[in-house]
Amino acid sequence: MILVTGGAGFIGANFVLDWLATSDEPVINLDALTYAGNRETLAPLEGDARHLFVHGDICDRALVERLFAEHKPRAVVHFAAESHVDRSIDGPGAFVRTNVDGTFTLLEAARAHWSALPAGERELFRFLHVSTDEVYGSLGPNDPAFTETKTYEPNSPYSASKAASDHLVRAWHHTYGLPVLTTNCSNNYGHYQFPEKLIPLMIVNALAGKPLPIYGDGQNVRDWLYVGDHCSAIREVLARGRLGETYNVGGWNEMANLEIVHTLCALLDELRPSAAGSYARLVTYVKDRPGHDRRYAIDARKIERELGWRPAETFQSGIRKTVQWYLDNPGWIANVQSGAYRDWVARNYAGREVQP
Ligand code: NAD
Ligand code: TYD
Repeated sequence: MILVTGGAGFIGANFVLDWLATSDEPVINLDALTYAGNRETLAPLEGDARHLFVHGDICDRALVERLFAEHKPRAVVHFAAESHVDRSIDGPGAFVRTNVDGTFTLLEAARAHWSALPAGERELFRFLHVSTDEVYGSLGPNDPAFTETKTYEPNSPYSASKAASDHLVRAWHHTYGLPVLTTNCSNNYGHYQFPEKLIPLMIVNALAGKPLPIYGDGQNVRDWLYVGDHCSAIREVLARGRLGETYNVGGWNEMANLEIVHTLCALLDELRPSAAGSYARLVTYVKDRPGHDRRYAIDARKIERELGWRPAETFQSGIRKTVQWYLDNPGWIANVQSGAYRDWVARNYAGREVQP
């Protein structure tokens, strides 16, 4: 079996659902169920003996050691993290705790488990660390896309904490020989994404007739990848990646935020027209995020060359499916918009006076 951390979050849950749809290998799913973790996303696995959900913290060394001892996973796929840049600006402590201390705790428990394995099993063991392109910093308009050898220049508390975790993973390989793999992926979108991130936030706000808050001039560029493609890339790297290597994962799809939001408005105008007129009327410029990275772009040639992976979805096909999913699942949206969610939205957007 494999041990997945953070498998009740957006990408982790998509990964677990895809894994069990294509394989009978069981999954232990360790998740602390923070605001971003949601058992409802895993409802299709209710009663499925291949899925063991453990409500717990990756910083809990005794718990993590017990899971290794009891279940002897052959691999760890590590998603658990605090993942939202705006929240990291508001409160960086949780990011250092989970992303740095939590990864350290997992690495130490994995190392103890792996060191004690018989030779044949030791060789097969894998620790796959899921990371982000944000560790590389911000690009100018004409800079080449991030390759795996790009220097690390993290700019936000989130990306700094992820960079620190990447360095720990690298060091545990170099020093102790732990068989690690790291993926650095661009921005994901798709079903089950918590509506604090750009794409689901804009869909949810538009449907509620609320402003669509564009930070700064709306020209910050991200490279968007459909979540199912990220999950397939992780499966490939886990199966065939070279030990100690990092693989950049991206969608070859750079878009400015404003273009994303106008695409969403056009899709909603088609699929759920509003009597009040186009959703684009709700676009509102607000005060920028401090330290806002201007551009991310991934050069994903290494994973294509070595493992034959390329994204299966185009942005047009992936974003249409995503918008349709949010339209079809108002119950899921309502359930994640708890009091805590409303408090966050109030805090994050209150200080951002509307810009002309
Ligand atoms: P998410 O915030 O939706 O989910 C994170 C999950 O981790 C939640 O279920 C949460 O309950 C769990 N968690 C948080 N702290 C924990 C702890 N201390 N112990 C156990 N579980 C804990 O995040 P996501 O968007 O699914 O991202 C998953 C991973 O992928 C992260 O490591 C992130 O850095 C990385 N990543 C995300 C993106 C993206 O666009 N979302 C892109 C590249 C890489
Ligand atoms: P986000 O989804 O938070 O991902 P990240 O910051 O990790 O790339 O934001 C994506 C882009 O959208 C980023 O440039 C910030 C911008 N953005 C807005 O303009 N308005 C918003 O309300 C949010 C949440 C993000």
